[in-house]
Amino acid sequence: MCGIFGCFLNEGNAAPLIHSSLKRLEYRGYDSVGIATISDGKITIKKDQGKIDDVHKIHNLDDLPGSIGIGHTRWATHGAPLQVNSHPHTDCAGEIVVVHNGIIENFLELKSELQNLGHTFVSKTDTEVMPHLIEETLKQNPQLSLEQAVLESLKKIDGSYAFAIISTREPDKIICARNESPLVLGINSHGLFCASDIPAFLEVTNKAVMINNGELVVLTAKGYEIKKISDGSAITREPITIEWTPEMAIKQGYPHFMIKEIHEQPETLSNTLRMQDHYLDLLTTFLDRANEVFLVACGTSYHACLAASYMFSKLAFLPTYPVYASEFVEQHGKSVNIDSTILAVSQSGETADTLAAVTCAQQRAATILGLTNVIGSSLTRISRVYIGTQAGPEIGVAATKTFTSQLSVLAQLALRLSKKRGKISQDEMDTLAEKLDKLPETVDTIVRSQEDKVKNIAKKYANSKVFFFLGRGISTATAFEGRLKLMEIAYIPSIAFPAGESKHGPISLIEDGFPVVFICPKDDSHRTLIGNIMEMKARGAKIIAVVEEGDQEIKGLADDYIEVPKGIPSVLSPIPFAVPLQLLAYYTALEKGFNPDMPRNLAKSVTVK
Ligand code: AGP
Repeated sequence: MCGIFGCFLNEGNAAPLIHSSLKRLEYRGYDSVGIATISDGKITIKKDQGKIDDVHKIHNLDDLPGSIGIGHTRWATHGAPLQVNSHPHTDCAGEIVVVHNGIIENFLELKSELQNLGHTFVSKTDTEVMPHLIEETLKQNPQLSLEQAVLESLKKIDGSYAFAIISTREPDKIICARNESPLVLGINSHGLFCASDIPAFLEVTNKAVMINNGELVVLTAKGYEIKKISDGSAITREPITIEWTPEMAIKQGYPHFMIKEIHEQPETLSNTLRMQDHYLDLLTTFLDRANEVFLVACGTSYHACLAASYMFSKLAFLPTYPVYASEFVEQHGKSVNIDSTILAVSQSGETADTLAAVTCAQQRAATILGLTNVIGSSLTRISRVYIGTQAGPEIGVAATKTFTSQLSVLAQLALRLSKKRGKISQDEMDTLAEKLDKLPETVDTIVRSQEDKVKNIAKKYANSKVFFFLGRGISTATAFEGRLKLMEIAYIPSIAFPAGESKHGPISLIEDGFPVVFICPKDDSHRTLIGNIMEMKARGAKIIAVVEEGDQEIKGLADDYIEVPKGIPSVLSPIPFAVPLQLLAYYTALEKGFNPDMPRNLAKSVTVK
């Protein structure tokens, strides 16, 4: 998730506006930045790793000639955040310049084809294949226009993209195109703009044209032309007026980043399903060879590790040990050794406890593997092999989209390991892979169909003294996550434990009316879970059940229930079942007058709508 911007001014230099617009897109990515402008048939590029303000201090991003230019602020997915990997990227001759947001899934094949044709690549990014593809298309078909060469090149690309392209071959235009990654045009009397998101140009215009999937746009002095990528046919579309303030726009009209990020999960889960095979295979090989595997993390990331320990065991027969990072040194610091493998999971890649655990293990020659959302973070630098969760920056304090993205990647690893070890049949494999592919849609259905119901449940129980979260099997991890979210942003004391543990003590806390949230996928634990529900009901608890559609049995027992689509395999269930718990925490925080995006000492400012 990066931010692209293109600017076609009727007069004056475009660079200062590109610079300030990238600043307004910094919430989409901020590990490197770059701008390219075209003037007198010459291209000028300034790009480097680092935050926009820091790069500006070194390179002065306002000082590039020309009224036409493109820019990019990056959230690395392929290639560490280094100057060479920052955008824009060019072809061999430096005549075609491209910025991109998205993931080109078949970039490795395209890259080796182009290298065999003599192209030289300088970066580790997927994006760099695009300018070389256009260059090669024009070399083989010199009669084509730049636009036609772009259209031909797009047909060879698999994956998601929003591109903005300029070239000295046709210096009087910007070409941009969209497939899945967001793209919108801005229009005013001084010029035309294309951007990943409306905030980029809202300071200069509130006239916008939405660009749909499979569309290409050409910006020239005459205006904007939209065409279908599939057949080049023209599309007419009038601008609309945006009523948002710049602050609202950054949240895309959502009141808080947390709810925006909860709604982003269909897109971020799709991103995780576009993961490069060789990264997943590499990590799978290390796990397959490992003698003992510790899954090390803190907070929400630890809950992803706990769920993963069920996935690895159930699918690949690999025992793994989820460990709170803050306890690792004490618990395993003396026994971890050269035969140990650590899979450290951290959204930020910078959590001190996780890094301390990893450093301790590394000093004892253990193999370090990393799963993080921040490419270039300390965890990626210390890891032998790492994978990025590609969820884009997470601004809200509470981890939501990064949790489900972590789980999706961990499930893919467990599936690959299972296949590698021949532990499940091809049919089972196909079924699980198909369900995994469906998860973005499943989560989208949950958010659309259950949000209002969750709002009412939050209203009903917001003043409860305590909340309980219970699950069995892999849902224990989901229960822990539900508890953490409610404590973290609604500040309600909450207790979670494996439902089977209730009778070994915690049940004595239950009083009349206490809300108890049960996580109830229709898996092997379903029958015994009903017994646990009965135990709690017998003591006057209010049962809030997250159930599968059509689960009449538990719906009949519950005081309130939230439904998720049916048929989700148990090992994947923490992904969809966590979403209603994220929503419950969010709406409970609002009910209690807290701002879900703020840490506690700043949270009391919000007024309840
Ligand atoms: C989760 O919502 C919290 N923000 C917190 O528990 C977090 O998960 C924990 O600090 C770990 O962070 P990391 O994933 O960046 O390492």
